[in-house]
Amino acid sequence: PTGRLLDALGRPLRDLRISVTDRCNFRCSYCMPKEVFDKDYRYLPHSALLTFEEITRLTRVFIAHGVRKVRLTGGEPLLRKNLETLIEQLAALRTLDGQPLDLTLTTNGSLLTRKAALLKAAGLQRVTVSLDGLDDAVFRRMNDVDFPVADVLQGIAAAQEAGLGPIKVNMVVKRGTNDDQILPMARHFQGSGIVVRFIEYMDVGATNGWRMDEVLPSAEVVRRIAAEMPLVPLEPAAPGETAERWGYAGPDGRHDPQLGEIGVISSVTQAFCRDCNRARLSTEGKVYLCLFAHEGHDLRELLRSGASDDALASAIATIWQGRQDRYSELRASLPPETATGKRRVEMSYIGG
Ligand code: GTP
Ligand code: 5AD
Ligand code: SF4
Ligand code: SF4
Repeated sequence: PTGRLLDALGRPLRDLRISVTDRCNFRCSYCMPKEVFDKDYRYLPHSALLTFEEITRLTRVFIAHGVRKVRLTGGEPLLRKNLETLIEQLAALRTLDGQPLDLTLTTNGSLLTRKAALLKAAGLQRVTVSLDGLDDAVFRRMNDVDFPVADVLQGIAAAQEAGLGPIKVNMVVKRGTNDDQILPMARHFQGSGIVVRFIEYMDVGATNGWRMDEVLPSAEVVRRIAAEMPLVPLEPAAPGETAERWGYAGPDGRHDPQLGEIGVISSVTQAFCRDCNRARLSTEGKVYLCLFAHEGHDLRELLRSGASDDALASAIATIWQGRQDRYSELRASLPPETATGKRRVEMSYIGG
């Protein structure tokens, strides 16, 4: 029952994003607002989490269906104990073409200084670090736990030193909150070999109180940066990519690779569902077919009831083949959440 799969809209399965914990040491208001994720919030109990063996086994089955890229997410994935053991197991897997996986991780960077070398040694190839501003006061307000920006910058430097590259930095832009950080971020990382991606604030989850007027359209981000540092559009690096790429232009008006590039991720103003090849596996073993899904498809019970790899492969095939999700394309025409009574899954649970 394996082989390359297509969903109901003809989209292949290429990218698997695995959440390894629903906990985080930050409280970014757009993701885990303090009022909701307080001391009474019920996180998953340890017994609910997939073990590393279970994750690796499922990943092997996903690979048999065509997955080539695996991203570890959270919550904050570096909070999961002994994560390097999982990385070692995943790094040993091979894609259908016999290649190593594109194995990466999204982190808030708070533990990178301590862990970068260990992660590299375990077989991690690269990292993406979330960083919502360079100004210390703005950054502390964004993470809402008073975490200093200098420590994340040190973590990024440690990752670079360890050879965890190419490194990407993700900045979620909220109009009126941190949009004054766009230019400082662009200037700081220009020519550093690090690609900054500016992300439109999304209505993901059910708790962040999203409002359209807090979204700064990516077109405006590009306009502001290009006014100071000329940009030229670049071709996508891979099909179904989330980011639109822009290169810094040299004096001749052409892209200067030394200066590097930026990306914009425009889920709100320019949906990219058409080629979405991403499946998400939650910490407790549910497959989510969209970042904005209400429900997942449980694989843990199957795993723990002694199912064969073939049975797991058929289950995954059935789930993917039934996939019609394209939330961002439909956003404007859907009834508001409050009208449906259903709650979207939280990003801290399913990962970015
Ligand atoms: P790279 O290979 O490193 O470019 O990975 P990527 O493009 O998958 O990027 P990354 O995992 O860093 O995702 C960046 C951000 O894009 C996430 O944190 C989300 O905010 C957003 N994002 C990623 N995937 C999706 C998706 O399928 N749908 C939507 N709407 N947003 C997404
Ligand atoms: N909108 C956009 N991106 C978000 N992330 C989390 N919540 C949101 C949101 N509401 C993304 C950020 C962060 C990653 C872990 O998840 O990119 O870097
Ligand atoms: Fe934690 Fe990342 Fe969510 Fe911020 S965006 S609360 S760092 S998981
Ligand atoms: Fe994929 Fe859903 Fe994001 Fe569209 S909204 S790109 S279908 S995860």
